[in-house]
Formats: sequence, structure tokens, C-alpha cells
Amino acid sequence: MITQPWFSSDQQFHKLYPVELLTQASMHWTPLHIAKKAAAFLAAEKGKKILDIGSGAGKFCLAAAYYQPECFFVGVEQRKNLVEAANAAQQALRIPNAEFIHANLKETDLARYDHFYFFNAFFENLDEGHRIDTNVPYSKDLYHNYNRYLYRQLSKRPAGTRLATFHSTQHEIPPSYHEVGGTEDGVLKFWEKIS
Ligand SMILES: C[S@@+](CC[C@H](N)C(=O)[O-])C[C@H]1O[C@@H](n2cnc3c(N)ncnc32)[C@H](O)[C@@H]1O
Repeated sequence: MITQPWFSSDQQFHKLYPVELLTQASMHWTPLHIAKKAAAFLAAEKGKKILDIGSGAGKFCLAAAYYQPECFFVGVEQRKNLVEAANAAQQALRIPNAEFIHANLKETDLARYDHFYFFNAFFENLDEGHRIDTNVPYSKDLYHNYNRYLYRQLSKRPAGTRLATFHSTQHEIPPSYHEVGGTEDGVLKFWEKIS
């Protein structure tokens, strides 16, 4: 693995991005040490395709792709400016095993992916104090609608599917997914579909 100075700290990594996005970093972007742990769990076998649901400016996918070069990481993100920032950071890092798609999760077929990462993407619909911008609609109904969609999609995935959640309310997790690990404080959780 080529050691990239960008990955020496979160502060260093954030220098890949325009300053106007950095106010989002502490609240909305996965810290590098969490991305490393989650990526190791999700990339248990070579060649797997992993989807970050709500990939923001791409920090999780880019870090995961760097730490696990034998797997491919895809991010789906509803905000175009964040997808553009993710693409620019990817170019600067010259990371080949990642891709960003500008779309809503509801236009995404989860059957195309093996495993999933989810950092509480829908919570912005409830949390008026920490919204990223005013460019997308927010509502309690959307929160429930997105959770139900993700729950149904995850239910259809085969046994052995892995899911890593960071700060999840767990509304999106079907009972067929069992908790199999995570961090001591419980903010990062690992799940595996049993049946
Ligand atoms: C907490 S941020 C996580 C960013 C990234 N996963 C990371 O960990 O660095 C959640 C992102 O999910 C996106 N998001 C929320 N609802 C979405 C939806 N229905 N479809 C696509 N993206 C969505 C938001 O725009 C936001 O950028």
C-alpha cells in the first residue's frame, strides 16, 4: 500500500476539500479511525462491492477504498455539490477502487452490492439544528419513508450480507440482521444477515 500523507489525520484529510464544506466535517463525515474499522469488517472477502448509503463528500468511501484496496466502494449521494467534491478528492488521491453516484437512495438498487455502510443519513429530516443546507426537502414523513425503503431493501439481501452502522437509530435494520461487533461505546455497530 502506498502511504498517503492525506491519511495521517482527519485534519490532513480535510485539506482535500474546499473550506466552505469543512463546517460539515465534524458532524457529518466519518472519522478516519472509524472508517478503517468499518472497512475491515465490510471487506472480509476480496472483490466485494460495498455501498455507502448517503456518501456526502466521500470521506468514508475514499478512506475505506484506501484501507481495503481489494474491494470496491460506491457512494450514493443526493447532493450534487458533495458528489463533485468527492470526485475531486478522489482525483487528488488517485484512488481507483471507488465511485460516486449522484442519486437518491430510492433510485438505487441494493441488489447490485454485497455489503453496506450507513452513517445515520436520514436523521437530517428530524434534526433541525444541524442541517447541511436548504437544498433538499426535509420532513418526518421522509425520515420514515427512507427508513422503510432501506429496511425493505436490506430484508431482501441474502444471508451473509454485512452492514456497518455509525450513530444509527436502528429504525432501518431488519430483525434478520444480528449485531456481531462494533466499538465498545456502541456508536459503530457491525451486523450480519443470518437468514
Ligand atoms: C452523515 S452524512 C455521511 C457522509 C458519509 N457517508 C461519511 O460518512 O463520510 C449523510 C449523507 O447522506 C445524504 N443523504 C440523506 N438522505 C439521502 C437519500 N435519501 N439519498 C441519498 N443521499 C442521502 C446526505 O445528503 C448526507 O450527505
